[in-house]
Amino acid sequence: MNVGIIGAGTMGIGIAQVAATNGCKVWVYDANPKQVETATVGLEKTLTKLVDKQKISSEKMGEILSNISIATELKDFKDCELIIEAIIENKEIKTKVFTELETHVSENCIIGSNTSSISITSLGAELRKPERFIGIHFFNPAPLMPLVEVIPSLLTEKTLAEKIYNLMKDWEKCL
Ligand SMILES: NC(=O)c1ccc[n+]([C@@H]2O[C@H](COP(=O)([O-])OP(=O)(O)OC[C@H]3O[C@@H](n4cnc5c(N)ncnc54)[C@H](O)[C@@H]3O)[C@@H](O)[C@H]2O)c1
Repeated sequence: MNVGIIGAGTMGIGIAQVAATNGCKVWVYDANPKQVETATVGLEKTLTKLVDKQKISSEKMGEILSNISIATELKDFKDCELIIEAIIENKEIKTKVFTELETHVSENCIIGSNTSSISITSLGAELRKPERFIGIHFFNPAPLMPLVEVIPSLLTEKTLAEKIYNLMKDWEKCL
C-alpha cells in the first residue's frame, strides 16, 4: 500500500515508522524541509537502537528505511491510497492542506487526520469528498502504543471505519 504522511513531527514520523515496518511504501512531507531531515535522522537512530537491542534485524532496519521516501510537495502524494495528516493542531491550516491535497490525489484516496481535539465531522465537511475522510488517532509514541482510535465523521462512507480498523490490525494496532 502507498501511504502519505503529512507532518514529520513527533506523530508523523512515528506513524511513518509503523506503516513502513508493516511493508507500506511511505512518503513523508513537511512544510519545513529541515524537519523531515531531522525526523529521518532521528528514525535511523531509533532503529539502530532496536537493532543493538536485537529487537529487529539490521535487514529489517534496511527494509523500513528503504520503504520511506521524502516528499517535497503535496503533489508527490498522487499515487497514495491512504494519507494521514499529522500537522499542527489548527483547523484552518489543516483545511488549507486538505483543499490542496484533494487537487492532487485520486478519487479513491482515503484521507485521515491524527487530530487530538478538532471535530472530525467539522474537518471532513470542508473536503470536496467528505466521505473519504476519517480520524485515525495514534497515541504517542506511535510505534509503541497499541491503541489507535478510528473515528468516522457523520459524512464518512459507511464501510470506511471497518476498512481502516482492519488496516490498523494489519499494522499490529487495535489488537
Ligand atoms: N504529540 C502527541 O502526543 C499527539 C498525540 C496524538 C495526536 N496528536 C496530534 O497529531 C498532530 C501532530 O502533532 P505532533 O505532536 O506530531 O506535532 P509536531 O509539532 O511535533 O509536528 C507537526 C509538524 O507539522 C508540520 N507542519 C505545520 N504546518 C504544516 C503544513 N501546513 N504542511 C505540512 N506540514 C506542516 C510542522 O513543521 C511540524 O514538523 C496534531 O494534530 C496533534 O493534535 C499529537
